[in-house]
Amino acid sequence: MQTGFNAQVAIITGAASGLGLVIAHKLLNEGAYVGLFDVNIEALREEFIGNPDKEEFVSVDVTDPAMVEKGVEQIVARFGKIDILINCAGITGATNIKSHEVDPENMRKVFEINFMGSFNTSKAVLPHMLANGYGRILHIASIAGKEGNAGMLAYSASKAAVIGMAKVQGKEYAETGVTINALAPAVIRTPLVEAMPDTQVQYMTDKIPMRRCGTLEEAANMAAFIVSAENSFTTGFTFDLSGGRATY
Ligand SMILES: NC(=O)c1ccc[n+]([C@@H]2O[C@H](COP(=O)([O-])OP(=O)(O)OC[C@H]3O[C@@H](n4cnc5c(N)ncnc54)[C@H](O)[C@@H]3O)[C@@H](O)[C@H]2O)c1
Repeated sequence: MQTGFNAQVAIITGAASGLGLVIAHKLLNEGAYVGLFDVNIEALREEFIGNPDKEEFVSVDVTDPAMVEKGVEQIVARFGKIDILINCAGITGATNIKSHEVDPENMRKVFEINFMGSFNTSKAVLPHMLANGYGRILHIASIAGKEGNAGMLAYSASKAAVIGMAKVQGKEYAETGVTINALAPAVIRTPLVEAMPDTQVQYMTDKIPMRRCGTLEEAANMAAFIVSAENSFTTGFTFDLSGGRATY
């Protein structure tokens, strides 16, 4: 599979950890210029070499539209355009609890980061992509958004909203050269998963027919394909990365 990103400009949110981190490294290795967005700027400095020609660290809270807008402008000023946006910033919020136990504040926080964050960034990059007649947006959703994980109402519902947004955006921009897709991974061992209660992780892992977790490499490979120029006739779609859990 040919997925060179030579001279393309990508913004990756949540780039300091887990999926965002490996995806950012893959795109960098394949020739992209990358805007690395995260609230945790110290972790970005530890995880990247800070190649001044290729990387721009941006301290961004994706829930803040003004900060997102400023960060996007910073990348355009630095690298001249935006070809790719990959939304990896996300949290699970409280898990292993039933719906009647959910704290509304926690529900709002999860939606703010998982849904509004992806909305804010896509809204900010779209005018630049439309002006260039080219773009690839990838929202990292979750199998939880397709299937609904018991014990994870806020997370599952926020990811279902992300999947809905990808469907809408895919149709809205279908004739513009900009594609918008989502990805629904099952369990991939990252700090996000390590922070969850063991029983919740067991529940999710037991449902994977391949009887194993996905790897970071598998996630990076699929993400890179989704945002490649070669992936040109698919939009509004949620790709599967679940070891057979979802066959739709
Ligand atoms: N790991 C999995 O098994 C899995 C499965 C399905 C979906 N996902 C989704 O993939 C994405 C990445 O998950 P991960 O496992 O790599 O998580 P992670 O916790 O390892 O990384 C998330 C990153 O997002 C950043 N972040 C959090 N809130 C932010 C904010 N408001 N603004 C900017 N950055 C913020 C964090 O600092 C962190 O660097 C998430 O959206 C997650 O829901 C993960």
